[in-house]
Amino acid sequence: MADDLERHVATLRAGGLVAFPTETVYGLGADATNAAAVRRIFEVKGRPTSHPLILHVASKDDLARWAREIPPPARRLADLLWPGPLTLVLPRTDAVLDEVTGGRDTVAIRVPAHPIALALLEALGRPLAAPSANRFGHVSPTRAEHVRADLEGSGVEVIDGGPSSVGLESTIVAFEDGIPVVLREGGVPREELETILGAPVPIAGGEARAPGMLDAHYAPRARVVVASADELAAKASAARERGERTLVLTTRPVPLVGVTLEKISNDAATLARSIYATLRSADARGFETVVVELPAALGLGAAVADRLRRAAAAR
Ligand code: TXA
Ligand code: MG
Repeated sequence: MADDLERHVATLRAGGLVAFPTETVYGLGADATNAAAVRRIFEVKGRPTSHPLILHVASKDDLARWAREIPPPARRLADLLWPGPLTLVLPRTDAVLDEVTGGRDTVAIRVPAHPIALALLEALGRPLAAPSANRFGHVSPTRAEHVRADLEGSGVEVIDGGPSSVGLESTIVAFEDGIPVVLREGGVPREELETILGAPVPIAGGEARAPGMLDAHYAPRARVVVASADELAAKASAARERGERTLVLTTRPVPLVGVTLEKISNDAATLARSIYATLRSADARGFETVVVELPAALGLGAAVADRLRRAAAAR
C-alpha cells in the first residue's frame, strides 16, 4: 500500500494522471500546479476546456493559499463540513492556474473525506485538480471498475478504494456578495447547509449555475424515463409497447409483465450510494430503457432526483 502510494505520487509529480477514490465519486487527478498535466485531464475525458475543475486540498488550513477571500458563511461551512462532500467556489489567488478555472476569477475547492484521497494529497504536498473520472457526459464512477471501463486505453493509473460511500458528487456552493447559493445539489443536503447557516440557501438558476452543469448529463446509454410512483406503470407499459427492453426501478411492487422490475431503496442515502452503479449495470445488461421512480426531493433525494432528470434529458 505504501509502495503503491509512492508510485502514484511519482506519477503525479511527473505530470501523469491518477484516478483516485473519494467519498462522493472517483476523481481523475492531476498535480494542480502543473499546467500540462491539468490540460491532459481534458484530453483524456473528452471534456471542453471551458468547464472548470475542482481543486482538492488536504486540509482547510490550505485555503488561504488558493482563495483570496473567504466569506464568513464559507468559513463556517468549511469548519463544519470538511473533509466532506462540499465544494466552495471562492475568489482565487494568483497561485491558481487558469487551466484549472478556465480563466475564471473564482476557484472551486474541496477537502475530500476518503482516507486514500487524503493520504495522496498529503504525500503529494500539492492540490489535485480533478473532475469526476468518467468519460464526458457519462454517469460518474463510484467504483474503480467504472473508471477502468470509461478510461480504458488511456494509461491512467486507477487506485481502488472500494465503493464511494456517498455515491453522488459534492454539493457546490458559491457566494454572491457573501450570500451562499447552491450551484449543484449533491452530497450535503441543502437542509443541512440551512441548518448550519440559519438562513435559506437558494439553488441558483439559469446562467448562474455551475459552468458545465448541462441539462443533459450523467447519462447511461439506455434512455432514462423518470416517473412519479403513480406514473410508473403507465410509462413502463409505454416503453414495453414500443418494443424496448425495459428495466423498471421502483421502491414497491408493480403489477407489470414484459419488463424487468428491480427494487430500489426508499432511503435516500442508500439510493444515492447505489444509483450510478445501477444505471451502469442497466447498460451492461443491455436494457434500452430505464423507467425510474423519482425520490422525494428531501435530503439527498433532491440530488438524486436532479441527476435522474439530467440523465432523462440526455435524449
Ligand atoms: O464530488 C465531486 O465534486 C467530484 C469529486 C471527484 O470531487 N468532482 C466532480 O467534478 O464532480 P466535476 O468536474 O465532474 O464537476 C465539477 C463542477 C463542474 O460542474 C464545474 O462547472 C464546477 O464544478 N466548477 C468548477 N469550478 C467552478 C467555478 N470556478 N465556478 C463555478 N463552478 C465551478
Ligand atoms: Mg463530472
